[in-house]
Amino acid sequence: MNLLGIETSCDETAAAVVAGGERLLSSVVASQFDTHGRYGGIVPELAAREHLRSIVPVVREAVELAGLGYRDLGAVAVTCGPGLVGSLLVGMSYGKALSVSWGLPLIGVHHLEGHIHAVILEERQKGQTVEFPALALVVSGGHTSMFHVEHSSPTDYNYNLLGRTRDDAAGEAFDKVAKLLGFPYPGGPVVDRLAPYGNPNAVRFSMARMKGNDLDFSFSGLKTAVLRHVQAAAMDAEIARRRELTRSVPRPTVEQWLERTPQPTLDLLASFQETVVEELFRRALRAAGQHDVRSLIVSGGVACNSRLRDRFQAREIPYPVYFPSVRLSTDNAAMIAAAAYPKFLAGRFSDLSLTADAALPL
Ligand code: KG4
Ligand code: ZN
Repeated sequence: MNLLGIETSCDETAAAVVAGGERLLSSVVASQFDTHGRYGGIVPELAAREHLRSIVPVVREAVELAGLGYRDLGAVAVTCGPGLVGSLLVGMSYGKALSVSWGLPLIGVHHLEGHIHAVILEERQKGQTVEFPALALVVSGGHTSMFHVEHSSPTDYNYNLLGRTRDDAAGEAFDKVAKLLGFPYPGGPVVDRLAPYGNPNAVRFSMARMKGNDLDFSFSGLKTAVLRHVQAAAMDAEIARRRELTRSVPRPTVEQWLERTPQPTLDLLASFQETVVEELFRRALRAAGQHDVRSLIVSGGVACNSRLRDRFQAREIPYPVYFPSVRLSTDNAAMIAAAAYPKFLAGRFSDLSLTADAALPL
């Protein structure tokens, strides 16, 4: 059965068709980097406006690329939270309209459940299965959360939240540090590309000890430590040069950044990235050690990070570690269509009272 997925929770307008929760037929993503890049972060009003502009052509393209018509679809799955309400509402309203006019059931999907199912979808597509129970680390611009995931039947997935960030998400830390150093939004990809040119041990950052739940995260102190470092090092001139490049060139090359980024700043970027990666790695391993776990899933936009991927190849992990492909790590709608499939099988449909919830729990 082919499900249409729609995802508009943040700054990507996405639609996809997935067959049987395991075969990706199409995935279309319209990113808004060029809209938000120079603001150093997402501007919610602009995000909603861009979704309105893109949603109709993006959905049409996904259905066409799948080589299907609406009669070949079994349901419309749409992200209903968490996320920016103005953005969520665009995808939800359009999803509801399609469900009514095409006579298809509607399925509301939690965004983080989607990120976890990106991995399950791709493993199935390879003819393999993820081993459960799993520890899932979802690490993105809006979230840093760890779940214990149980899967007892084709229709049943159970998610138990083990820890989450108490302040900034890891991706948000990448974005904020990049912004204060004069790089564009999103910061994660730029830091990832420049960090290999720096020494990851040059600056020692200490991470806060978490009182209460030692599986929680905190990244705002790290961001403040980078800010203090920047102020003490008097980096205003080089930051101004990078801001100028951000304003004048839509997608600067690594060479252009390197020309404007002295070695101590590259060392700072590498050290910052290393600290975030080590923090994610250590706490994920601690969580896995405390619970019955047969595999580890890492997903969300920050799962694109090359150093994070390397770190999780460590030999000390005694079970399989799954990452989605880069394309399905960041926001997309294939993961939403895949996460909707077990609900479809169980007949767990939503009605038109489905609402967008900015803080929806999983
Ligand atoms: O999952 P996603 O597309 O959207 C949210 O649900 O938030 O994640 C976007 C986040 C941004 O903060 C971005 O900077 C980060 O993922 N990101 C990265 C990389 N690529 C994207 N962070 C570190 N390294 C990367 N290569
Ligand atoms: Zn996401």
